[in-house]
Amino acid sequence: MARSSPSFTCSTCGAVHRKWSGKCEACGGWNTIVEEAPLSTGPKSLGAKGRTIPLSDLATEEAPPPRASSGIDELDRVLGGGLVAASAILVGGDPGIGKSTLLLQAAASFARKGLKCLYISGEEAAAQVRMRAQRLGLTDASVKLGAETNLRDILTTLDAERPQLAVIDSIQTMWLDSIEAAPGSVSQVRAAAHELVTFAKRRGVAVVLVGHVTKDGQIAGPRVVEHMVDTVLYFEGERGHQFRILRAVKNRFGPADEIGVFEMTGGGLAEVANPSALFLANRDQPAPGSAVFAGIEGTRPVLTEIQALVAPSTLASPRRTVVGLDSGRVSTILAVLEARCGIPFTGLDVFLNVAGGLRVHEPAADLAVAGALLSAREDVAIPPDMVLFGEISLSGALRPAGQTENRLKEAAKLGFSQATVPSHSKTDGASGLTVRQMPDLTSFVGEMFGAG
Ligand code: TYD
Ligand code: MG
Repeated sequence: MARSSPSFTCSTCGAVHRKWSGKCEACGGWNTIVEEAPLSTGPKSLGAKGRTIPLSDLATEEAPPPRASSGIDELDRVLGGGLVAASAILVGGDPGIGKSTLLLQAAASFARKGLKCLYISGEEAAAQVRMRAQRLGLTDASVKLGAETNLRDILTTLDAERPQLAVIDSIQTMWLDSIEAAPGSVSQVRAAAHELVTFAKRRGVAVVLVGHVTKDGQIAGPRVVEHMVDTVLYFEGERGHQFRILRAVKNRFGPADEIGVFEMTGGGLAEVANPSALFLANRDQPAPGSAVFAGIEGTRPVLTEIQALVAPSTLASPRRTVVGLDSGRVSTILAVLEARCGIPFTGLDVFLNVAGGLRVHEPAADLAVAGALLSAREDVAIPPDMVLFGEISLSGALRPAGQTENRLKEAAKLGFSQATVPSHSKTDGASGLTVRQMPDLTSFVGEMFGAG
């Protein structure tokens, strides 16, 4: 018999601990560990015999899953080409980022395409959701609306209505009466998600779960349900910026890392079909500290501007402020510049930023980061018609990035005429750009800034 002592679970990352502590050793979060009631264990022990399950071959005649298109291209692409029936999707994001707005618009678009859609709000009253729909001009769409948090009632309703798409906003407000824990607790969120995912599979309904990401651990984060669902999308963006990025973090039905770009306007979220043009807007004068990175987000090339500011510091340990990039990666680049090229940043504050609020995860951004840093430090502008990309290794050598030609083509489309890339990058010259290939960081520094 299993011991039924309580367990302690981190509400942010879902790690299970044997005892309570102030800090989760798994994710480093403070005050995120909560006690969970023990699971009731049945009378059967593992020794009891089960039935044999049917097995099948890998070869299959089955067609790929049918997909429904929403008509919102940015959303369809992130889903891997449309909504798959009987799939469970989690949409996570900070409170107030625009998740409810996005999903109400998505439900309306799917409904206009003929899908039967249900939107269950556990956070807002039906009247509030209707008011929002009116403001967004969605009242003509045949979305059925419900305001409820009791999951038993919701499942019964879903079973009776048999929609093709059900949006549950949000999973943290849902509660099962069979579990003695507060809504938003790890046990409730996990159990509610499990019920809904099982329902999706059994009844062939696509279920979208909205999940808030909270840093204080007051409510269980979407991490707790990430492994249960087929697709995990994160809706991100800076509060002050109007751009919002929908990013596929996991997708059993399409490529992960695909992004959709939206703009928050007075009339809801608008698609941004050409994100590069948007992220590079307002770049007219050549400015020191600016470098354009030709990146790849999912299957699409996206150009972004990396901005750096380097200033004398009055602090004993100078500031390293990084927005939109991995700060560990930036420290590595600073170390390589110092150790391999003899360019120290000691005594200097460094500020780095990706314009427009995009987060860049690619190692290929290294060269553009180094370019922006050097340009800011030397006060020499990089030619405004140049893009940069390539990974910097610890030895200072430059490593080619994938999809060189796609990056160059996007740059050419946006009016750039030259590129600096690592040696041995695979290019056939079809983009028309003047491409300079560099073997290492030292030659890059010498060529661009006449130092090193
Ligand atoms: P919401 O979808 O409620 O966020 P979430 O569900 O992620 O908590 O979005 C709320 C924010 O979006 C709010 O601060 C106002 C802004 N907003 C607009 O700017 N324009 C709009 O048309 C709508 C509906 C919301
Ligand atoms: Mg909401």
